[in-house]
Amino acid sequence: MRRLKPPAPDLLEQVVIPAGPIDLGAIFGECPVVLDVGCARARYTVKLGERYPELGVLGVENKLKRVLAGAKRVAAAGRENVRLLCARAEGLFGEILPPASVLAAFFICPDPWPKRRHGRRRLFQPDFVEMVRRALVPGGGLFVKTDDPGYYEWIREVVAGNPRFEPCPEWTAGGTAFDPTITSYYEERHAAEGRETRPLGWSAR
Ligand SMILES: C[S@@+](CC[C@H](N)C(=O)[O-])C[C@H]1O[C@@H](n2cnc3c(N)ncnc32)[C@H](O)[C@@H]1O
Repeated sequence: MRRLKPPAPDLLEQVVIPAGPIDLGAIFGECPVVLDVGCARARYTVKLGERYPELGVLGVENKLKRVLAGAKRVAAAGRENVRLLCARAEGLFGEILPPASVLAAFFICPDPWPKRRHGRRRLFQPDFVEMVRRALVPGGGLFVKTDDPGYYEWIREVVAGNPRFEPCPEWTAGGTAFDPTITSYYEERHAAEGRETRPLGWSAR
């Protein structure tokens, strides 16, 4: 088994490893908070923090090694409004986030699990989408980008099945117009291979 090098102690200042429900106010103060779910090494997370300095941005990733690499990026960028959390998205929405606590949740290039028999591994399932809805404030945004045409249609159908979401293709939430052209690492990789990454957006009622 490969061993992780212990991280420098100051990197842990950017990382939250929750043992139960978290208090976003204690992390970010009074500002609205947005999530970058499946943030990998936090490239998109930091871009969000730079573009929207008035918001708190919480990047969530289940692989600790990626979280620690992301923490280096956050520290290098000096972003006080960006923090990272090591957790699975299912636990994040099911146990860690209080209801109606988040302005928007971004899912940028979530793992597509393209083989039919792997469909159950996809994050977007009806119960999961309802958990995301509960974590959002009324009018909060669920914003997604994927390069996988099959997953694009799947996500559209699953979210359309939840009557408490309405389409919001313009990516607005709480008076902020989010920019769907900000690119993530995976999106840039897909673009270099000639694959288009398409956005989807909903607003929670
Ligand atoms: C395809 S990558 C996309 C990374 C980044 N959003 C981007 O666009 O560059 C998907 C990321 O989601 C993470 N991930 C997959 N399933 C997850 C889950 N259930 N909870 C949290 N993170 C997850 C993976 O470890 C990986 O870093």
